[in-house]
Amino acid sequence: MENNLKTLKNTAEKGIKQAKNLKDLDGVFRLYLGRKGELTGILRSLKDMPSKERSAFGKEANEVRQVLQEAFDSRQKELGWSNETQEGSIDVTAPGQKIQAGHLHPITQTRRKVEEIFGSMGFVVADGPEVEDEWHNFDALNIPAGHPARDLWDTFWLKAEINKKPLLLRTHTSPVQIRYMQEHKPPIRIIAPGRTFRYEATDAGHEINFYQVEGLMIDENISVANFKAVIQEFFKRFFEKDVTIRLRPSYFPFTEPSFEVDISCVLCEGKGCSSCEHTGWFEMLGAGMVHPKVLKAVGYNPKNLRGFAFGMGMDRLAMMKYKIPDVRMFFASDLKFLKQF
Ligand code: PHE
Repeated sequence: MENNLKTLKNTAEKGIKQAKNLKDLDGVFRLYLGRKGELTGILRSLKDMPSKERSAFGKEANEVRQVLQEAFDSRQKELGWSNETQEGSIDVTAPGQKIQAGHLHPITQTRRKVEEIFGSMGFVVADGPEVEDEWHNFDALNIPAGHPARDLWDTFWLKAEINKKPLLLRTHTSPVQIRYMQEHKPPIRIIAPGRTFRYEATDAGHEINFYQVEGLMIDENISVANFKAVIQEFFKRFFEKDVTIRLRPSYFPFTEPSFEVDISCVLCEGKGCSSCEHTGWFEMLGAGMVHPKVLKAVGYNPKNLRGFAFGMGMDRLAMMKYKIPDVRMFFASDLKFLKQF
């Protein structure tokens, strides 16, 4: 009997060692320590033994059980057992955990839509730096140093300079007009969406950091009528309904004539509400016919060329489209707000 026990112990230990995976090991366990296992059977039969033999043999059999159990446990660990891998511990019928997918910010969605619409009208997307030099942001746009028009843009000037010229955070996307014209010959049809900065107090309608989309079309025979047609079509497609526009005379140093473009308030259908200050109109962009001095600054001949330019508030577009009353919500990183889009 004792010999049997020793043989059992040796073969069981060998089996445990040789088990290559948890399934093998489980088989070995069942063979010896399982409910119908060999050792379990021996332990169960102890009660039928004469008491003299029982105590010595029982002790030994229990020791073997303990040794095997320990060997089994440590081999289990070696083979990478954990609660997760234990067979049957994964409830395949349990409902899955929903993976939270992110989505695009409403401003990004707006930018993509703007690019898509103008793209379909033949406008190419152009880009420029957010840190600009003074010449591109002002001088080339007919706003020389000391000119009162510079006060129209409250500027973040930087301490850094290039060639002794101060740098700044661009106050509008108009410098992209200059950069693009310097590198390309007409005809030109571009939009330049991007981030702009102004040193302003913030309120529901103003942020120090906001988004614009610039537009520029240059050719031999461009008129205000072309501008009106393009912008009208854009609004119609952007808001997916007919939108009335009106042009009001305005002033920008880089366009002549200049105008401001209002759309009939999309929120109240032009009836008048708090968002449009009860006028029924909502100011969307500044625009005009490109000033001859701007064309000269980039080396074009203003005699043969004309064009229109516009600068539209992209945040304002998004606010109108999604009926958002406060521009600051775009930058508040509030999930309750962002998850609605
Ligand atoms: N850059 C002007 C602004 O930010 C808008 C504008 C662009 C006006 C192009 C006319 C032509 O206010």
